[in-house]
Amino acid sequence: MEREIRVGLCGCGVIGEGVVTVLREHADVIAARAGAPIKLTAVADKDPARLEIVRAQDPSIALLDDAFEIPKRDDVDIVVELIGGVELADRLVRAALDAKKHVVTANKALLAERGGALFALAEANGCDLYFEAAVAGAIPVIRVIRESLASDHIRSVRGIINGTSNYILSSMANEGAAFEDALKAAQEAGFAEADPTLDITGGDAGHKLAIIAGLAFGARVLPSEIPTEGIEQVDPRDIQYARNFGYVIRPLAVAERLRSGALDLRVHPALVPEGDPLAYVDGALNAVAIQGEMVGPSFLSGLGAGAGPTATSVAGDIIDIAKNSLAGAPVRTWHLPSEGDQKIQAIADLSSRYYLRFSVQDESGVLAALSGKLSDSGISIEKMVQDADSGDAGTASIAMLTHHAREGDVRDSLRAIDNTHLTTAPTHLIRIVE
Ligand SMILES: NC(=O)c1ccc[n+]([C@@H]2O[C@H](COP(=O)([O-])OP(=O)(O)OC[C@H]3O[C@@H](n4cnc5c(N)ncnc54)[C@H](OP(=O)(O)O)[C@@H]3O)[C@@H](O)[C@H]2O)c1
Repeated sequence: MEREIRVGLCGCGVIGEGVVTVLREHADVIAARAGAPIKLTAVADKDPARLEIVRAQDPSIALLDDAFEIPKRDDVDIVVELIGGVELADRLVRAALDAKKHVVTANKALLAERGGALFALAEANGCDLYFEAAVAGAIPVIRVIRESLASDHIRSVRGIINGTSNYILSSMANEGAAFEDALKAAQEAGFAEADPTLDITGGDAGHKLAIIAGLAFGARVLPSEIPTEGIEQVDPRDIQYARNFGYVIRPLAVAERLRSGALDLRVHPALVPEGDPLAYVDGALNAVAIQGEMVGPSFLSGLGAGAGPTATSVAGDIIDIAKNSLAGAPVRTWHLPSEGDQKIQAIADLSSRYYLRFSVQDESGVLAALSGKLSDSGISIEKMVQDADSGDAGTASIAMLTHHAREGDVRDSLRAIDNTHLTTAPTHLIRIVE
């Protein structure tokens, strides 16, 4: 073994502490696979208590309270950015690249918002910028799309890429939990952040989907361009109706290249047929289903978050960079297309089947009137059930599955229906993905 590869860690929170543990406890196997020992030389965190935990494990590691001191150090070859956020992390990664340090990050928000500029800077400085842990934690989706399937035309990527949302919907389905109780349980189990907004509104999955679209389709997409809906709108009644129709509701992210060349990108809860592999991905698990022209369908599943799984992905990137460095290999940055923008299909133009739940007056003629209005808009019903509402006298629920229809037409029709006396509350719509 020629020399050691030295790592500086910025941020020693949930994932950072996991990286300290993996590098220490798996030092032998990491050195064997990297071809040299990987030495954690410096750790920075604002919280002295976190640094004390590191000191107790290895007093030789330099401990700092400011992450920006890490890229300046001569005893650091690879900077690991785990402070999170966008602005500060952007400055930190730039500082590291400007100092000619390779970078590993798990920061999906940063890469989704600023990835293009950061990869260009990495290339200009002759540095690697690795990010396997940014999408689906321990599942090696980045390497699979970027390397294993590099020769194929990717048709679609569909995934459950937010474990918190999946945990909540699974608890609602399996234990009959209310949304708020399921969220509380997810926080207590350590799956959801104290502020779970980005998870339950679909924002976190949107960040990851923007990265996936870049890898799979060479598309330069910002999260704000991706039609995104969270899981807050899902009611226990929807889960029950979906089950009766033979479906489960999963928090999905979809990226597909359409025949027109446009991209269908979206994040939303979806009805998935009970026999679909994604329907079996329960609790905090993540999964990604990739369809390629040559490769056909492939399916990856595993833990998408948490210290151990995510830190393992980070350590895998460190090993890869170490091997590149030891071999004197040129860097392997992620090339984004420089020309033109990708057209993203407007959600109104989506052709899909839909689950609809109407809250209606429990009167004769309502069902016929509803069906007539949908039919007038070219929306045909595949299946339907009607139940008297248990709580509210005089009201009923009608749940139905439609055949394929254009979403803009469905939305217009529902808007018109909800403006009549027929419905007593806004109609619920959930897309069906199959
Ligand atoms: N948690 C997961 O399961 C998971 C999974 C995949 C990817 N990720 C990504 O991994 C990254 C880290 O996540 P995490 O869950 O480990 O976050 P975390 O627990 O909040 O850890 C971040 C740590 O960095 C510290 N910090 C922030 N700014 C700093 C600065 N300027 N100098 C020194 N220390 C600083 C924070 O201190 P204070 O708390 O005092 O601010 C905190 O201790 C994020 O980008 C996240 O999206 C997380």
